[in-house]
Amino acid sequence: MAEFIPVGSFDIVIFGGTGDLSRRKLMPALYHRWADGQIPENSRIIGVSRSDMDDSAFKAFAFDACEEATPEKLDKTEWKKFEKHLAYVAMDATDPKADWEALKSLLTLDPERPCIFYLAVTPKIYVPICQALGKVGLSDGNSRVVLEKPIGTDLVSAREINEGVGAVFCEECIYRIDHYLGKETVQNLMVLRFANSLFEPLWNRTAIDHIQITVAEHYGVGERAGYYDGSGALRDMVQNHLLQLLCLIAMEPPNSIDGDAIRVEKIKVLEALRPMTKDKVSKNSVRAQYKAGSVKGEAVGGYLEELGRDSDTETFVALKATVDNWRWARVPFYLRTGKRMKGRHSEIVIQFRPAPHAMFGQSKGHGQSNRLVINVQPDEGVKLYLQIKEPGPGGLRIKSLPMDLSYEDNFQVRYPDAYERLLMDVVRGNLSLFMRREEVEAAWKWVDGLLEAWQEAETPMHTYQAGVEDGPVEARMMLRRDDRDWWEIKDD
Ligand code: BG6
Repeated sequence: MAEFIPVGSFDIVIFGGTGDLSRRKLMPALYHRWADGQIPENSRIIGVSRSDMDDSAFKAFAFDACEEATPEKLDKTEWKKFEKHLAYVAMDATDPKADWEALKSLLTLDPERPCIFYLAVTPKIYVPICQALGKVGLSDGNSRVVLEKPIGTDLVSAREINEGVGAVFCEECIYRIDHYLGKETVQNLMVLRFANSLFEPLWNRTAIDHIQITVAEHYGVGERAGYYDGSGALRDMVQNHLLQLLCLIAMEPPNSIDGDAIRVEKIKVLEALRPMTKDKVSKNSVRAQYKAGSVKGEAVGGYLEELGRDSDTETFVALKATVDNWRWARVPFYLRTGKRMKGRHSEIVIQFRPAPHAMFGQSKGHGQSNRLVINVQPDEGVKLYLQIKEPGPGGLRIKSLPMDLSYEDNFQVRYPDAYERLLMDVVRGNLSLFMRREEVEAAWKWVDGLLEAWQEAETPMHTYQAGVEDGPVEARMMLRRDDRDWWEIKDD
């Protein structure tokens, strides 16, 4: 079993307690932390939502949620112990006349003990809920508020949320989640860079040719079509997850992993992103929608069919981003993400430059140079491709082969979900894996500029076949123009 640092007792209130996030992620995460003995006995988990249910119905909901998220059946005796922590309050937290006393009566309200308010609700009601919490005296002492992404839909709305929430909670009490930062492999990215002296001297424009960040998903938008259509791949994935990955690769070494040190370095990267302009946007970006195709041999509909109407929302985006600073001058960062791609695969490829002199007669091209591949998911691990002589007499053939550091082979532990780590960090008061206000706003500023450029340039919407293609052919063309190729997306 992995080692866990115990946390102190806490109360957590989940607004949107019976919602999708609570079911898929929060309940299972809390259960697993409890099952590993990390959550102290007198901690409380309180679900809040408008659904008219009582404690026992909420416990049944939580049981189903945890069983759904766990490969094996839950042990009922153990579950009985866990469910003692659970309680439920039915209320509309945005209604000024709501019965807050019922909720307050369940909280310990001890200044020494963290009281966490997790807003797993639409961002539109972040501010009203926080205002209500302030009014009933629940925002002081050791209170913390957790905000799920997306924080707004553009810079203006993000600022409104940040200001509204900031008027009630201090910045150090606000935990803005990007769950990618809780993923093991994403944290390992920092360890890889800063705990190995091997990479840092090479981690710049002199040795690195370009960087690719791919987050490919094979599922479509399904039941989330309503939300997704108002968002699209750029807002849903790039503004947060992909830009966070880019920041961790591009940032300068922070002084420590504590407090603000990492966050400050990430903000510098976001501020150095070159804005996309009308004249360059069609060359440096591709937007597309999936059309009907097939996933694992089964026919699936296209985005518009799933949505049931016409739409100009992209389900795929590919970008060539530039970080305008000394370290990264002339090193493109190619980003791509999409729904209904060929496989589910997230990876980061650091492509090194070819050896300066081709004494073995290699042809030009990245196939012949070193490559560091960080598999974010699935098959978590790191591969470093080296050029090796193929055995055999006659001639000298060179092959590119990986030194393969698979997590599964090296650590026989259950993989904690990103939310497990992040929830425990909130309890511990560790903000380093959460986004600071300026970070969210800088990311929106860049994304807003890109959206505006798309509109001005009337950037076309391309298509790709669901489940069959790695995105549209135009995304490949974007790299071909630079004499490069995407690394193939593997089908899991
Ligand atoms: C969410 C997006 O933030 O991340 C979803 O809203 C996406 O659209 C999800 O599917 C991907 O997360 P993961 O952890 O499955 O890669």
